[in-house]
Amino acid sequence: MMKHGITRKLLFTGMMLAALVPLGLSAAEPEDVIKYRKNVMKAIGGHTSAAAAIVQGKVDYKAHLAEHARALQVLTKDIPALFPKDSDFGDTEAKDAVWTKRADFEKAAKNARTKVEAFAKAVQGGNQQAMAASFKDMGEGCKGCHKDFRKEEK
Ligand code: HEC
Repeated sequence: MMKHGITRKLLFTGMMLAALVPLGLSAAEPEDVIKYRKNVMKAIGGHTSAAAAIVQGKVDYKAHLAEHARALQVLTKDIPALFPKDSDFGDTEAKDAVWTKRADFEKAAKNARTKVEAFAKAVQGGNQQAMAASFKDMGEGCKGCHKDFRKEEK
């Protein structure tokens, strides 16, 4: 019985601790957030480069284009969310302006997002020229943000 009592006590303590750390509200480590957003940005870069090769006719994967466009729509849905407070130091190329000029940063994100949508629409439309033009414009959207908010455009 004694043993049982201790087990119950431990279980209770465990439950109390669990209650103190609500799932999803636990603070992520800044370096993990930075790693995560870089991976998401790499994915965005990967789909953009893959789409470029198709749009420029270097490879013959036209059937994939809509999927790359769709992936970009999903991945660029909320770029500012990838840059929470306290993720501004460490192994990051993000400039301080991401946090000090937040309104401008959000505007740049929205601008790029609009261009991604336009590209996705052009892909649906299937017109080669419209696709190429909107793809180029989308690239300007990426650069528009990197220019002001990312250290040394690579
Ligand atoms: C609203 C701003 C913004 C937009 C829009 C944006 N980026 Fe970025 N991007 C950043 C910032 C800031 C970084 C640096 C992140 C870091 O190092 O923590 C970055 C990093 C990257 C990286 C490097 C990832 C790594 O560390 O290896 C690539 C690749 C990239 N972006 C591609 C793109 C492409 C392609 C687009 C357009 C489809 C785009 N980005 C749109 C802000 C933006």
